[in-house]
Amino acid sequence: MDHSFDANSLNPDMIDKKRSNKLASSKMLSNIAQIRLVSNHPEVYEPCDDSFALVDALLADRTNLLNMQPRFCMEVGCGSGYVIASLAIMLHQGCSAAQYFATDINPHAAETTAATLEAHGVHAEIICTDLALGLGKRLAGMVDVIVVNPPYVPTPDDEVGCEGITSSWAGGENGRKVIDRILPVVHNLLSEKGWLYMVTLTANNPSQICSMMREMGYASRIVVQRSTEEESLHIIKFWREHTEKGSRSSWLSQFPLLSFWRSSGAKESGI
Ligand SMILES: C[S@@+](CC[C@H](N)C(=O)[O-])C[C@H]1O[C@@H](n2cnc3c(N)ncnc32)[C@H](O)[C@@H]1O
Repeated sequence: MDHSFDANSLNPDMIDKKRSNKLASSKMLSNIAQIRLVSNHPEVYEPCDDSFALVDALLADRTNLLNMQPRFCMEVGCGSGYVIASLAIMLHQGCSAAQYFATDINPHAAETTAATLEAHGVHAEIICTDLALGLGKRLAGMVDVIVVNPPYVPTPDDEVGCEGITSSWAGGENGRKVIDRILPVVHNLLSEKGWLYMVTLTANNPSQICSMMREMGYASRIVVQRSTEEESLHIIKFWREHTEKGSRSSWLSQFPLLSFWRSSGAKESGI
């Protein structure tokens, strides 16, 4: 029996659908978002070393993320959309049911993220809000993965929350004004098995951040560390302590080449 058919006889809608499916899958050939497809705006933070370090941390943990089968994933402070698009792309094949949320206080960032996601053929619900205001009730205890590259640069307090690009970096005293507000918000949103990946700077006193999270029941460790002449960036992963009982050795083997640090050892590490 001849199963061949004439493509011209296909309904034009079907041809369009096939073309766009092909386009979306060609965009997803890479494991992460492609810089050339990331949208930009003068008032929106462009992907930088900290964004790349955060995506590298997610990529290094991809197998664990796929095994975890997250249902809801969220980025707080999505900027250009590079990080949330990368997360959606890297989980696309193994976690097709995952849903993504991206928030930013800057409306231009919300628009830019929408364009970046569309250019990569992935989807997230984008909310222009302060941290995750408005999502607290709807998603309380439901979010499995939260990623945050917060405004962490030490600045005068009155620069925090300014409009536009300043809100991308202005972190107030010790760069902690926004970070300290994020922690309880994350605690409310994270599911029992949930993980937080957050960028911090040495000046932010990450060991104190880990202690604050420990008080709320979270263990932590640095999964990526990058140092330049000016700053030392850490991507810290947090998880609820009780969910990892008995699997400490497997944690140790996850990132053999990267710095390892549990919050209990933070003071010794001098970070
Ligand atoms: C350092 S940029 C990171 C952008 C992007 N996630 C990345 O890694 O490239 C911080 C982002 O947080 C956003 N932001 C600052 N304060 C915020 C707040 N209170 N609520 C939501 N987003 C905020 C900024 O507008 C900015 O887009």
